[in-house]
Amino acid sequence: MKGTNMDLLHLVRGCTFDDFLFTPQYGILARRDPDAVDLSTRFTEHLTIKRPLVSANMDTVTRAAMAVVLAEEGGIGIIDRGFRAGDIQPQVTEVAAVKRTQHGIITDPHTISGEQRLGEAIRRMEQTGVGTLAVVDSGGKLTGLVTERDLRFVSSEGFVSERMTPLDRLVVHTGLISLTDAEQLMTQRKVKKLPLINKNGTLLGIITARDLLMHKQHPFATRDGGGRLCVGAAVGATGDYLERAAEVIRAGADVIVVDIAHGHSYIMECAIEGLRKRFGNIELVAGNVATAEGARFLLERGVNAIKVGIGPGGGCATRLTTNFGIPQVEALVQCRDAVGDKIPLIADGGVKRDGSIAAALMFGGDSVMLGSAFAGCEETPGEVVLKAVLEPESQKLVKVPFKVFRGMASISAVRDRLGLEADQRELKAIGAEGIEVSVPARGSARAIVHEMLKHLCSAISYGGAQSLQELRGKFWSNPEKYVVKLTQPSRVESFQR
Ligand code: XMP
Repeated sequence: MKGTNMDLLHLVRGCTFDDFLFTPQYGILARRDPDAVDLSTRFTEHLTIKRPLVSANMDTVTRAAMAVVLAEEGGIGIIDRGFRAGDIQPQVTEVAAVKRTQHGIITDPHTISGEQRLGEAIRRMEQTGVGTLAVVDSGGKLTGLVTERDLRFVSSEGFVSERMTPLDRLVVHTGLISLTDAEQLMTQRKVKKLPLINKNGTLLGIITARDLLMHKQHPFATRDGGGRLCVGAAVGATGDYLERAAEVIRAGADVIVVDIAHGHSYIMECAIEGLRKRFGNIELVAGNVATAEGARFLLERGVNAIKVGIGPGGGCATRLTTNFGIPQVEALVQCRDAVGDKIPLIADGGVKRDGSIAAALMFGGDSVMLGSAFAGCEETPGEVVLKAVLEPESQKLVKVPFKVFRGMASISAVRDRLGLEADQRELKAIGAEGIEVSVPARGSARAIVHEMLKHLCSAISYGGAQSLQELRGKFWSNPEKYVVKLTQPSRVESFQR
């Protein structure tokens, strides 16, 4: 993409998504089907995702369930740090849950020894939720497999070795194997589990038919080198952030997101330094910033992606309470102009309709982070509450299911994070920069993601491109050809229905 673009910077000054349309171009896309259009993009410098969508690290948006959907659909979810300070385990549990959802090769399968009682095997299966245990000797050599079925209707006093399928009756593979070859072998031999061993018989891992099926069902999924779903985890810039980062990395987090309201700051500088010193090359996202200066500041400190957005968020009150912020389109253009293609930008906040996703990606975002767009979904954390609502047509009160969506700087979120036992002075010092609202409960985030992707493909078609990256390239090489600045009446014509 081109460097400094004074005309575009001038054009977008003080503007956000609803200030623009794009001029339709000659369409060259044969099919607008998301399965056929390349929507891949960089989430961070070294992590490419096949769909440019990210779920926000907010405690009413992303925990394991949401992160799994996003990763399966080709994006990524960031587990929030909205747990009490010092209370790291809950976030670790969420990260670990995502990493255990699917595998390529399970390199750390749950094991048991043949000399143990069947009762112990049952207990371990219940504890881990796993239906097959690899049976190994004291040297880690595979001696058999024991499954739930083997344990039905038998006394728990018996020994695992008496009920397991022994090694000589198992199909095993010596050495590593590609998933395609494993699938072929497992189909041929009609087995659901394929243990891998080395030449000495030591267990290396297990491939399961279920995981292979998952890989087929989610061809665009964001996976790590071991075939597990990718997930990010947010940390702060002070307090427990180093310890939190260490624990979530140990649990398998692929990306650490240092997320603070004002990322162009001294405390961010110290945090990046601290994280780099301790964790070396971990993939590091930092934010939020909204200016060229802020973006350059983070680029120079060696982060791998920048989160852009000060105040556009649906749960956000920063602009109301402080009067600081930059309209999101101007913020994106400023930051893109400042860092070019050196590292990716995550356009964070302000997406209220699907068209703004295309706009965020064209004006500079490599991916788009969404909070309120997913609010109320099945996969968001929090209870569904029934509220009485007056139905306009019948004038009757009907019970409607709602869920809470709140900004991470809302009084309730901050109070929960600090803990009720927190220092009263700290509680009094909370200057709320977020709001809390009830939103109607709705279906799965998966359906919402699918709709967004279809609309993005249509935008690519209108933009005269065949892929997301081609659209972005064409836009930045000649923005004037695309950008239509709206007047108040044309804004009404465009967006008010
Ligand atoms: P959307 O518009 O998708 O935005 O809901 C999600 C982003 O909003 C930011 N966020 C906040 N900003 N006060 C703020 O100023 C808050 O309390 C707050 N909570 C979330 C955050 O960047 C998120 O990704």
